[in-house]
Amino acid sequence: MTVRGAREGDLGQLHDIDRLIFTDDAYPYFVLRQLLEVHGERFLILEHERELTGYAMLATTPDNQRHGWVLGLGVVPQARGNGYGRLLMHKAIERLAADEVAEVRLSVEPNNEVALNLYRSLHFTTVEPRQAYFGPGHDRLILARKLG
Ligand SMILES: CC(C)(COP(=O)(O)OP(=O)(O)OC[C@H]1O[C@@H](n2cnc3c(N)ncnc32)[C@H](O)[C@@H]1OP(=O)(O)O)[C@@H](O)C(=O)NCCC(=O)NCCS
Repeated sequence: MTVRGAREGDLGQLHDIDRLIFTDDAYPYFVLRQLLEVHGERFLILEHERELTGYAMLATTPDNQRHGWVLGLGVVPQARGNGYGRLLMHKAIERLAADEVAEVRLSVEPNNEVALNLYRSLHFTTVEPRQAYFGPGHDRLILARKLG
């Protein structure tokens, strides 16, 4: 299993696995295309023998606080429970540390126990609960971890 930056040729498979991972909440193809253009090497792809298995999408904010975000994280259902989500998060943190980000943030559904277990084991703590963060009925917890 390798982790590398996404390329244009990944778009088709990326779209397929995004729908497997996030079903109705998957990005439309055109949004994925735009995210790839914007995030470039900070769009991390998990790959095994040319099969895309998961991804982590990172960003840095344009302010002086040097915040970084993990905007998306997912592993296809059939590959879960093998340490790949943790691997992607390690690579994400490594990449954002190289960007000299002072703090990494992410949002998570309050009842997503699997993701919360992963993030807490990596020393993320809850900064604030946000109601309707992704629109009515879509509450999220904002988690953060300092770097450096
Ligand atoms: C969250 C997700 C990326 C985890 O990926 P994964 O490859 O299955 O995770 P890993 O095997 O690396 O496990 C990492 C940690 O997650 C937690 N975890 C994994 N599977 C779990 C389960 N079935 N129940 C409870 N906790 C679990 C554990 O803390 C685990 O660490 P450990 O193995 O040291 O105990 C994956 O479940 C996923 O894609 N889910 C759907 C999309 C999603 O919810 N993304 C996060 C959005 S914020």
